[in-house]
Amino acid sequence: MLKLPRTIEWRDGVVRLINQKELPENLVYIETTDWRRLARAIKDMEIRGAPAIGVAAAFSMALFAWHFNGDSLESFLKELAYVAEEVKRTRPTAVNLFWAVERVLSRAKSTTSIEEARRIVIEEALKIQKEDEEANRRIGEIGADLIEDGDTIITVCNAGSLATSYWGTATAPMYVAKERGKNFRVIALETRPYLQGARLTAWELAQAGIDVYVATDNSIGILAMKEKINLAIVGADRITKTGWVANKLGTYLLALVSRVHNIPFYVAAPTSSFDLKSVGPNDFEIERRDPSEVLYIKGYRIAPEEVTAIYYAFDLTPPQLVTGIITEKGLIYPPFEKSIPRLLA
Ligand code: MRU
Repeated sequence: MLKLPRTIEWRDGVVRLINQKELPENLVYIETTDWRRLARAIKDMEIRGAPAIGVAAAFSMALFAWHFNGDSLESFLKELAYVAEEVKRTRPTAVNLFWAVERVLSRAKSTTSIEEARRIVIEEALKIQKEDEEANRRIGEIGADLIEDGDTIITVCNAGSLATSYWGTATAPMYVAKERGKNFRVIALETRPYLQGARLTAWELAQAGIDVYVATDNSIGILAMKEKINLAIVGADRITKTGWVANKLGTYLLALVSRVHNIPFYVAAPTSSFDLKSVGPNDFEIERRDPSEVLYIKGYRIAPEEVTAIYYAFDLTPPQLVTGIITEKGLIYPPFEKSIPRLLA
C-alpha cells in the first residue's frame, strides 16, 4: 500500500497539520490545542482543499470541546455555536466546511449532559475524517478503472492527499491505478497564484513515485494539441444540484479545452462536496482573496506599485462540459439534474 502524507491528525486534544505554505521546500507541522489557531490555518491556507478544511473545521470544534472547562451544557452549546460561526467565516466556497460544522453542531444539540456533548463533538469530528478517508479510497477504486496503461492525465490545483483525509479525490484514481501496476504520467498545471499544482500536487505525486510534469496554466491549449492527453481529472469545492462545479481557478479553462479536444473531463468529489441547496452558479459565494497573493511571488512584487489585481480564487464549470462525476457512491453521468438528486437520495 502506498504511504502518503497525513495532512491533519487528531492527537488527544492536539491537532497536528502540515503547513502547506512551506511545501515543497520544507515539510513542517503546526501543532495546536487552540481552535482559533486552527481556524486561522484554514483562513490563511496553511491547510486547504475542500475535504481537508471540512475536517479542520470539525477538529476546531473538537479542540474547543476537549479544552472547555465550564460545567453547564447550556454554556457549552452557546460557546460551540460561536466557534461554529467563527469557523464558517474562514473561507466561503468549499461546502464541506459548512457541512462539517453543521453536522457536528447538530449532534451536539442532541445531547443531554456536558460530558456527553464533549464526547459526541470529538467523536463526530473523528468520524468525519474516517468517512472522508473511506470515500477517498472508494473514489480511487472507481476512478482507477478509467486509467489505461500508458495514459497521460492532466489535473489542476491539488485535489490530493494534502487536500483530504488520505488518498485525495482527483489523485485517488492515480494512486489506486499505481497500486494496480499501471504506468501513466500526470501533468500538474501549476495553478497560479498559490501554486497548488506546482508545489503540492507535483510534490505528493513524486513522493509516491508517479511520473509527474509541471506545466504553466496558460499551456493547456498547446498541451492538448501536442501531448496526447487521455484524461482530465479535477476536484471540486462545491457541486450544485444541477452539476455546476466550483473548483480552483483554471478548472473551467481546462474543461473548455478538454471539450474542444475530446479529452474526457471528470470531476472527483465525495458526496460531502455536493450542495443541493444551490442550483445554479450564482447561488453561493466564489471566494475573492487578497490581491497581494497575485501581485507578489514569494514576497517579490511582480506588478507595478500603482495597480491592483482581480482575484477570484475559484471558477465555475458548467455541467455541459463535465463528462462524469466520480463519487464514493458511484460514477454519475449527465443529465446531472437527474443523476445528482438520485445519487444523494
Ligand atoms: O484554494 P484551495 O487550495 O483550497 O482550493 C482547492 C481546490 O480547488 C481543490 O481542487 C478542491 O478543494 C478539491 S480538494 C480534494
